[in-house]
Amino acid sequence: MKAAKMHSQKAAPAPAQLDPDIRPGQSVELLKELHILTRDGKLNQDSRRKLKQVYHLYQFIEKLLLELASDVPAAAGPTLADHGAGKSYLGFILYDLFYKSRPGGHIYGIETRSELVDKSRELAARLGFERMSFLNISAADAADNALLPAEIDIVTALHACDTATDDAIAFGLRKNARFMVLVPCCQAELAGCLRQNKALSLARTPLAELWRHPLHTREMGSQLTNVLRCLYLEAMGYQVTVTELVGWEHSMKNELILARRTGQRKQSAADRLRALLAEFGLQGLEPLRYPL
Ligand SMILES: C[S@@+](CC[C@H](N)C(=O)[O-])C[C@H]1O[C@@H](n2cnc3c(N)ncnc32)[C@H](O)[C@@H]1O
Repeated sequence: MKAAKMHSQKAAPAPAQLDPDIRPGQSVELLKELHILTRDGKLNQDSRRKLKQVYHLYQFIEKLLLELASDVPAAAGPTLADHGAGKSYLGFILYDLFYKSRPGGHIYGIETRSELVDKSRELAARLGFERMSFLNISAADAADNALLPAEIDIVTALHACDTATDDAIAFGLRKNARFMVLVPCCQAELAGCLRQNKALSLARTPLAELWRHPLHTREMGSQLTNVLRCLYLEAMGYQVTVTELVGWEHSMKNELILARRTGQRKQSAADRLRALLAEFGLQGLEPLRYPL
């Protein structure tokens, strides 16, 4: 009886497979390398939050990939460029759960920190994830980089710092992306402009009370940045959905902007964008961030 019990214990699946947060068929080796699993196969509690975010994003992106797969020949497969890739959690999970079992497609990670790029390259080589490339360049330079193809199907940016999200949008427009999936991070550029013009704005409009206090300047800057990004995408021929990525308990930076190319540029969005820039004294940003 005792022996039988011991035997059944031995034959039980690894603890990693029992955890509801680990998907069937997922590479345990990858999850260990990403420190999502500990060496003995248990889920690292610190990483659980990251994993939840990435899974949530995966659920959104998987639908887009499936939609693309019905258009793109299987051998070509969808291309995806991830901006501000960091340790490339998102890219690796996407590859493991979607690309690995399909013949085509390619994931490009764009990241300024060379040590993270080196690590991602090593890991992709070790796991045999051949259709992943990592470029040690800034998001702003990516559109002109010869190693990237002329067109990219999906652009992602998960918490890419400050203006890297704007650079990802500019990249997506240049590469005629079908979809852009953006979870913006901290934002400083626009708040800086609001700060500079604060005295003038306060004299001009009571609305400037919305960003008089420094904390409000930062929050207003973030909110306004994302509103302008959405208008810009609509003005450039994208249909935009804004939603929550995961519950606020998992991340403070939780806004998911999903843009789908329709090719129909919305003049009303361009007009609104310009009107908002004028209202907030931000016209100087138009040629740099929102060239129409
Ligand atoms: C907050 S981390 C997010 C990393 C990853 N996307 C994730 O969610 O785990 C932001 C990353 O963006 C990178 N980064 C910041 N500015 C960038 C830029 N302009 N171009 C490319 N990468 C950038 C940083 O080095 C950092 O690794």
